[in-house]
Amino acid sequence: MPNAEIIHATFERAAEACADPAPLIYTRLFELRPDFRPLFDMDTDGGVRGSMLATCFEAILGLVEGAETQRVIISAARFSHGGYGVLDAEFDLMFTAIRDVCRDLLGPGWTAEEEAAWADLLSEIAAIA
Ligand code: HEM
Repeated sequence: MPNAEIIHATFERAAEACADPAPLIYTRLFELRPDFRPLFDMDTDGGVRGSMLATCFEAILGLVEGAETQRVIISAARFSHGGYGVLDAEFDLMFTAIRDVCRDLLGPGWTAEEEAAWADLLSEIAAIA
């Protein structure tokens, strides 16, 4: 099965398990890096976190479809986040958190093929300068 289908299938099953994974994803991110939590102190209504996550989902779905524009968007966001003090490799942790939450939500249903497809995707994103 191509990676795009595998990634789509994990998103669909994660969405069935949890209608709004955003709180889980940010909880996971802050578990990985507790020092990132205060960066969002100004985001009292969660609007920034919501639109940031939506951008990440669009980036993932675009990338697996081979959309060149999403590579540009990731590259630009990587650069702009340097201005918020989020360094290169740290930026990728947001995608790691998304993968971790999907994996948790799928539980024992998460397959080796899905693990491999996500690992490929995370490497592909990390390679976008
Ligand atoms: C651990 C990684 C990340 C951290 C700690 C982080 C942190 C932040 C912070 C603090 C802001 C608010 C900046 C401000 O308005 O002053 C922000 C905004 C934003 N981030 Fe991230 N970010 C991360 C990863 C990402 C990724 C991977 C993407 C997507 C490719 C992304 C997309 C955005 C977008 C689109 C906004 C603007 C949201 C809006 O104001 O509507 N971020 N990020």
